[in-house]
Amino acid sequence: MGLLGSGISEVIATTRLNAAPIGIHARPAGLSAVLFRGSHTAENVAKEGWLVANVVQDPILFVRTAFDDLPASSFVPIPELGWDRLSGADGYVACAAEVARETPEALLVRLSVVGEEVLTSRCLPFNRGRCAVIEATVHATRFLRNRDPWLFRLITHHAQVVRRCGGPDELEALRLLEQHLEGGSIPESE
Ligand SMILES: Cc1cc2nc3c(=O)[nH]c(=O)nc-3n(C[C@H](O)[C@H](O)[C@H](O)COP(=O)(O)O)c2cc1C
Repeated sequence: MGLLGSGISEVIATTRLNAAPIGIHARPAGLSAVLFRGSHTAENVAKEGWLVANVVQDPILFVRTAFDDLPASSFVPIPELGWDRLSGADGYVACAAEVARETPEALLVRLSVVGEEVLTSRCLPFNRGRCAVIEATVHATRFLRNRDPWLFRLITHHAQVVRRCGGPDELEALRLLEQHLEGGSIPESE
């Protein structure tokens, strides 16, 4: 097995000078991603046929890339391929990407690994606060599209876990996330 474990790995996908959190599906049939239309990632993959899955633990980077653009200095080209990866990644998997199926909402993209590299030797225990930032952020990207009040309740729940279990980076990530939600704050309790 390569760097991406089986099931869905939450990574920061880079395409041409663009970064966004994306889930990479690893199944016996191979690697794939579902890219919702309207994102830069979907547009770039359809045009250029590649995507780099950056393995990142930084919760702040997940929130920033979900909502904002990163400066060009955050990217470095992978030697020989020339594809952009994040300079701060713990590791990366460079993939050729082919659109296998299209629906009105999304592109189903099949990924073939072209190269991968581990860049750090860090050993990180689970932190529920860090995991909860990822949960709250994925719900927030959907909430901003459909304003479903149930999603806002889930965000509130995960924000509580971040406040209880997170360290300074998780709390800063939550502060950034709140800035992107209407009203600018997530209630203390559900
Ligand atoms: C943890 C996480 C996982 C996500 N997974 C996906 C995904 O698999 N497919 C997708 O299209 N969007 C996914 N999103 C939402 C995109 O990151 C979001 O729409 C982003 O704004 C797209 O940025 P872009 O326009 O720069 O591509 C995810 C968000 C988070 C926080």
